[in-house]
Amino acid sequence: MSIFHYFSSNPDIRAKYIFNLIAPYYSKVDHVLQDKYQKTFEVLKAEFPIEGLTVLDIGTGTGAWAAMYELNKVGTINAVDFSEKMLAESQKKYPNIKFSLGNAENLSQFADNSIDIVTASYVLHGVKSDKRAKILSEMSRIAKKYVVINEFIGKTPAFVRFLEFMEKSDYKHFKLHFEQEIQPYFNKTNRIFVEYGTGLYIGYK
Ligand SMILES: C[S@@+](CC[C@H](N)C(=O)[O-])C[C@H]1O[C@@H](n2cnc3c(N)ncnc32)[C@H](O)[C@@H]1O
Repeated sequence: MSIFHYFSSNPDIRAKYIFNLIAPYYSKVDHVLQDKYQKTFEVLKAEFPIEGLTVLDIGTGTGAWAAMYELNKVGTINAVDFSEKMLAESQKKYPNIKFSLGNAENLSQFADNSIDIVTASYVLHGVKSDKRAKILSEMSRIAKKYVVINEFIGKTPAFVRFLEFMEKSDYKHFKLHFEQEIQPYFNKTNRIFVEYGTGLYIGYK
């Protein structure tokens, strides 16, 4: 892949280029994210017991979010991403997680209602609402019990806004509309603020 892919009109080609490029650096700093993710997990565990449940992590990247489930003693963990380089990093770090290459918009390798928790961390703000709808539909189809989304909530720090601008993500629309966007897919939804800029969106089946 070359720099020209950054300017591609196809958002998947651009995203894969960016994440393949940053994978080794992301992998080196993702422990910083994990300190924050642990706080989020305390909030999640107060919402419902996760021990022993099966998990599918969508857009797993270097595995930082999937690994938090492992640390918190869930059952089998599957994880998918469409960036080969991100997956190469996660596979090196977490041998007990089943990583595979896949596009979150079509996860036909996973059956309907087959996994207790289907989850994604900082994936859905990165894509436009039409793609978000396809990914949400897949997450809701595969989930037996819960969809757990770790994402931006409310005002975000300036450096995050700069990174999202460079990534050409959809985070502004995401923050404004996501709470409404997820409602049609579930019996009940919950938006839980955790700390400055972050929180959980949970869908209950
Ligand atoms: C910002 S990273 C987040 C990684 C990880 N979930 C975390 O919290 O550290 C977003 C990840 O989503 C992946 N991704 C984005 N769109 C995707 C899609 N349609 N299918 C699969 N992976 C996708 C990217 O390749 C990237 O690894």
